[in-house]
Amino acid sequence: MALLLLLVMLTSCAAAPQNLSGKMFIFPQETDTANVRLNTSMQSFTAVTACFRPQQEPQPFLSLSTPSFHNGFLVFKEAGNNVIDIYVRNNRVTFTGQDYMLNTWQSICTTWDSESELVQLWLNGKPSIKKFIGGSVITDPIVIVGQEQDSHGGGFDINQSFVGMMSDVHMWNYVLSPCEIQRFVEDLNFTPGNVIKWRALEFEATGRVLVENKITCE
Ligand SMILES: *[C@@H]1O[C@H](CO)[C@@H](O)[C@H](O)[C@H]1NC(C)=O
Ligand SMILES: *[C@@H]1O[C@H](CO)[C@@H](O)[C@H](O)[C@H]1NC(C)=O
Ligand SMILES: *[C@@H]1O[C@H](CO)[C@@H](O)[C@H](O)[C@H]1NC(C)=O
Repeated sequence: MALLLLLVMLTSCAAAPQNLSGKMFIFPQETDTANVRLNTSMQSFTAVTACFRPQQEPQPFLSLSTPSFHNGFLVFKEAGNNVIDIYVRNNRVTFTGQDYMLNTWQSICTTWDSESELVQLWLNGKPSIKKFIGGSVITDPIVIVGQEQDSHGGGFDINQSFVGMMSDVHMWNYVLSPCEIQRFVEDLNFTPGNVIKWRALEFEATGRVLVENKITCE
């Protein structure tokens, strides 16, 4: 009876939006299981801005798959160099010369829209050049942090798992203005994501993932 109650509580916890303001997910080890699936408020969009703050090792930051494209929208830090890759509908663009630092909270924003077909990366408020990537509508997304999807909602690879901390994940269905991105970077009063918002996050955590307070001293 007690176990049943606990299970029910866990299930309802996963479904109800939670305010994770001031908190972070911790992925403490390489696995091919630990992940957090983030519910999106829309099932179809033609532009994306994704912003988040990671700390620690390279690998996938945010993986969005669709039934047709495993890398529907993927932000990926390659190991051992200063390259960050962005994928849209399986097309890849690489951004070199990125000063991604370990042991420091980083702010990353990526923007794409299907009208210009351009993608741009912002690392700690510094914009990359805009590059052509193509793309049209993204439908039926599954958004995951902690793992990279090689199938729709699965196909995880231990060598492409995220080890570290992740906070402030937001997604919008439009391209944020440079000023709004700057407000996110400085953690000022920015417009929260209308597709995914950290302060009302519907998520389902699987495997060894912890939620802890992100300690900051003012
Ligand atoms: C979330 O929590 C923060 C910090 O406790 C609070 O300032 C904010 O108003 C809350 N937001 C919502 C949408 O509940
Ligand atoms: C995500 O949230 C929406 C709106 O609350 C809901 O209709 C939908 O079923 C949820 N999707 C998943 C996969 O939980
Ligand atoms: C992961 O990488 C290690 C070391 O390079 C390799 O031995 C192993 O086969 C890889 N595992 C998978 C599932 O690719």
